[in-house]
Amino acid sequence: MSDDYRQLLEATIQHVEGLKARGVRHVAIAPETLRALVMPPLRTNPETRIQKPEFAAPKSFTPTVATVLAAPQPLSEPRTESSKLENFNELRERALACVKCPNLAASRKNVVFGVGNIDAQLMFVGEAPGADEDLQGEPFVGAAGQLLTKIISATGLSRAEVYIANILKCRPDTPGEVSGNRKPTPAEMQTCIPYLHEQIDLIKPKVIIALGATAMEGLLGLTGITKLRGQWQTYRGTPLMPTFHPSYLLRNQAMSEKRRVWEDMLAVMEKLEMPISEKQRNYFLKA
Ligand code: URA
Repeated sequence: MSDDYRQLLEATIQHVEGLKARGVRHVAIAPETLRALVMPPLRTNPETRIQKPEFAAPKSFTPTVATVLAAPQPLSEPRTESSKLENFNELRERALACVKCPNLAASRKNVVFGVGNIDAQLMFVGEAPGADEDLQGEPFVGAAGQLLTKIISATGLSRAEVYIANILKCRPDTPGEVSGNRKPTPAEMQTCIPYLHEQIDLIKPKVIIALGATAMEGLLGLTGITKLRGQWQTYRGTPLMPTFHPSYLLRNQAMSEKRRVWEDMLAVMEKLEMPISEKQRNYFLKA
């Protein structure tokens, strides 16, 4: 059994058992994921050039809790009309059970799906969960998150009124290191981004704020946050404002950078036709 496959299997079993312990009776699982679990990757036998599975399930194979819970639904059965909330919950269940990146599925403590109002007009997209977010299962709860919460409050909105998500739903692993973060790889971004596309399609925000370079790259395929921040972009017809990531503001305490982010927030407030007070207009302006 390959290391990747064993890691994937162990992470899946652990995750499904955790769900079961919490009373979850059903999990949504993509047919391709199920197939990948039941049939490990094929490897070419160089002697015969015949593709054969790396190992076969023993004859007395007992279905694990994962295979029992993940019995596939008939694909042809017409889906009943379901509400936005049901679709959103179904998407969440799928993301929570995701094991497409075996290394991340094995190292994560939680899948960090997103938080907030699914009818929000304003949606924030960050990079990926850090250690605090992984532990709590909620995006932007660490130091950068606290700053983001302050920025949101300064507009007159609360965290509960907006929606907050990330490009990656799992914390990028840092094998051999006890702490630290790393940027998601292009492959991880490509694998995970369909969940975010679906989230945005369901929420239908009026404005998206891309926090930092990774969010801008993931959503728009564009690089150069320093140049593009503050300039309206379009994500599938939705206005998108790129701005600096709050962790950049924590690293660079210059008032000028805070003011730049605040100017981007003012532009977003105007787009959403939110009231803007004189005090708000003058934040971070020199007296
Ligand atoms: N940074 C991010 O980009 N997202 C989080 O959730 C936390 C920190």
